[in-house]
Amino acid sequence: MSIYFDNAATTQIDPRVVQSMLPYLENYYGNPSSIHAMGRKTRTAIEQARKFVANSINASTAEVFFTSGGTESNNLVLTTAIRDMGVTRIISSPIEHHCVMHTIEHLCHCQEVNIEMVPLDALGRVDPAAVEKLLKSSKEKTLVSLMHANNEIGNITDLDNISAICKEHGALLHSDTVQTFGHYHWDVQKLPVDFLTGSAHKFHGPKGVGILYCNGDNPVKPLIHGGAQERNMRAGTENLYGIVGLEAALKIALEEMEQDQKYVQSLKDYAIEQLKATIPDVGFNGDYAGNSLYTVLNVAFPGDNPYLLFNLDIMGICASGGSACSSGSDTGSHVLRALHGPKAPTSVRFSFSRFNKREEVDVLVAKLQEMVLVK
Ligand SMILES: Cc1ncc(COP(=O)(O)O)c(C=O)c1O
Repeated sequence: MSIYFDNAATTQIDPRVVQSMLPYLENYYGNPSSIHAMGRKTRTAIEQARKFVANSINASTAEVFFTSGGTESNNLVLTTAIRDMGVTRIISSPIEHHCVMHTIEHLCHCQEVNIEMVPLDALGRVDPAAVEKLLKSSKEKTLVSLMHANNEIGNITDLDNISAICKEHGALLHSDTVQTFGHYHWDVQKLPVDFLTGSAHKFHGPKGVGILYCNGDNPVKPLIHGGAQERNMRAGTENLYGIVGLEAALKIALEEMEQDQKYVQSLKDYAIEQLKATIPDVGFNGDYAGNSLYTVLNVAFPGDNPYLLFNLDIMGICASGGSACSSGSDTGSHVLRALHGPKAPTSVRFSFSRFNKREEVDVLVAKLQEMVLVK
């Protein structure tokens, strides 16, 4: 039986979410663009889901779009900001997810756009004052793109301050909220951002369906052209059962958020305590004791342990070395490189969910102790 500690890569779909999707897989298969009864039924399901998502973040339904996931939502924001909204400068950070970082690199390569990286401190944190300093240095139309929480080390960005700074300097603000959407409450009226992105499979929903929130003042244009779906913003027949599943997953996440946060944080705290007690010189990457995601713990192991992740896998423990998208490559983690340079310690990301148990942490710690201390 495996132990799954890779919830930042993806989560187990909640059985209640599966139940909500089944009627749309089996019985209600009409194309939502069809005008007959079957089509109207599925169109209603999509619009209800949109209304639910919009209400949950205090936005209007016209500001919410369904996409194929976080990657597409982030690509759309960055592309439309430059192509359609006159943005000529992007301020971002070196620890963004590859779907943001590589998109920015691609856009800079193809178009006249300047990119400026905000410096990080030793724990990988963004200082809002550093963002302000960059904003003050130029009058160019700027998009600030900073993730809300880092998927590898769990650092949470101070968006309250950064949002106020962006407003003051007339800059647009995009936040990749893929690791926090469905994990924290959002209110776009209280915390004004121009673009937010989410992905159902990070909060026990199905894979292949995401959210994009665009503040109504921004004239965004499509990335995918064709039919009139998503109010002409994203062509292609909608991922109907995915959208229904996303709504169900978000409903559960919001209803059970406080208890889940408390429980999952307790697993993370327990893992930290047990690792400190059993492995001398163990360390933790990022701001783990400060403003940090309750789901993510990035552990730095002493000594040379190149096969740690591999051996964990053999023992049935699923964890991750970098982001899910880069785990198949041997280039290492760009996030850990940004923090430690080329000599980053052997590190493994463990990420927890409501489906994990305290006893699983005990098994993990015992196995790690064996592997790290008895070599
Ligand atoms: C911070 C962050 N942004 C974006 C993505 C991409 O989301 P998706 O898998 O839905 O394309 C991920 C997934 O790992 C992520 O962690």
